[in-house]
This record gives sequence, structure tokens and C-alpha cells, in this order.
Amino acid sequence: MTIEGDSREYDLLAAHCETLGRELSKEKRPILLTAEIGVRKGLSTKIIMEYIRPNYSGLHFHIGIDPYGDLIYEHYDKIKATKLDYDEKMLLEFRKDFAEQKRFSHMHMTDKVFMEKYYYGVEFYHESKTYLLNEYGLVHFDGPHKTTDVINEAVFFAERAAPGAIFIFDDWKTYNTHLIRQVLNEYDFEFISNGERKMIMKKNDKSNKKDNSKT
Ligand SMILES: C[S@@+](CC[C@H](N)C(=O)[O-])C[C@H]1O[C@@H](n2cnc3c(N)ncnc32)[C@H](O)[C@@H]1O
Repeated sequence: MTIEGDSREYDLLAAHCETLGRELSKEKRPILLTAEIGVRKGLSTKIIMEYIRPNYSGLHFHIGIDPYGDLIYEHYDKIKATKLDYDEKMLLEFRKDFAEQKRFSHMHMTDKVFMEKYYYGVEFYHESKTYLLNEYGLVHFDGPHKTTDVINEAVFFAERAAPGAIFIFDDWKTYNTHLIRQVLNEYDFEFISNGERKMIMKKNDKSNKKDNSKT
């Protein structure tokens, strides 16, 4: 199947991946973990890997969290639960398309289950080594678009964000981004830019703040 996307401004995602790869190489950071919530046919996950890897001198690991399975849920605030086209057929095609990707794991579950199961990190087995990783350098938020869901995800990943981490929110106009920006400010993130579809936030490069408790 063609690896398609259902959004716009993929160039913005690609540009941030490229820059992140370069910056982390300059800092000689040896490992980078990135995540996408909501993979669908996989274009954004493909872009994340294709634009980080050639620009990054360390080891890049990526996860894509998506349950597929024709789930019926409230996709947006104040909208009745509906079924879209995220079905078994799409899952099988996606698996085929990404079967040969190295250092990539599809987390076949919802965001909520992921946050419970992988609270202490995700494991990768690569070239005779085991990696338990729980610090994220970039997250693309493109699963459920309800404000409460996105806030829960943002807090989970902010508590595990590396200094200089990039968070990209797709369809930001469909939920309360004002609230999300306020929450992330407490975790030392600042607003970088937005387009029609994507909003970018970045964690302070020097930050070692892991939570929002005031000390
Ligand atoms: C808007 S599409 C993602 C589009 C994709 N990122 C792209 O750019 O082409 C939303 C995806 O989120 C997934 N999804 C729905 N509920 C989810 C949840 N609770 N956790 C994670 N993913 C979810 C759907 O299965 C669907 O594949």
C-alpha cells in the first residue's frame, strides 16, 4: 500500500526531525527515543525515521502507538462516538509496509493502555544489547483529539521528555490547545510555532525539570 497521511504540513514535521537529529549529534547524545500516537497508514512515522536517521549520529529508536481495530470512540470534544476507517485491513497493510524498519516498534494498543504498561519505559533488543528507554526526544500527538485525552498524553510524555524535546500536535485547532500550552509551560516547554494543522512546542534545552512541582 502507499504510505499515506491524512493531514497536512508534513514538511514542518520533517524540518523539526532534521534539526533535532543535527542538534543532538552536535551534543553527542548517544540515544534518541521518539514516539507517535496515532499512526494510521504511517506517513508521519515514516517521516520521523527518514528525517532523523540520516542527520543523527547516535542510535534512534521509534515507537508508534495505535490500536486500529475499528474502535468506536469520541474522536473530538462534544462529538458522539463514531467509527472511522482504522480497521484490521489498515493494520495489516501498515505491518507489511513497516516490516523491515529497524529499531521501530508498533505498540498495538490505545494511548491509555500504553501509558499504564510502559510507565517505566519501553524495551528494545538491538545488536546483542537490551535498552530500557523512558526519555523521549520527540513526540507526534495524532491519536484521539479530545482535550482530556491530549492533556493526559502531554503530561505523561512531558514527565519523560529529554531536554530540548519537541512535541508536535496535529489538528491543534480541534481541541483546547490553550490549556495544553499552559500545562506544558509548567514542564518547561515553550510554544515555538504553528501552522494551520500542526503546533510545535519545545522543552528548554538546559531543563532538568521532570515534573511541575514548584520547588
Ligand atoms: C488522524 S489518524 C493518524 C494519522 C497519521 N498520524 C498521519 O499523519 O497520517 C488517527 C489514528 O489514531 C488512532 N487512535 C485512535 N484512538 C487512539 C488511542 N486511544 N490511542 C492511540 N491511537 C489511537 C487511530 O486508530 C488512527 O490510526
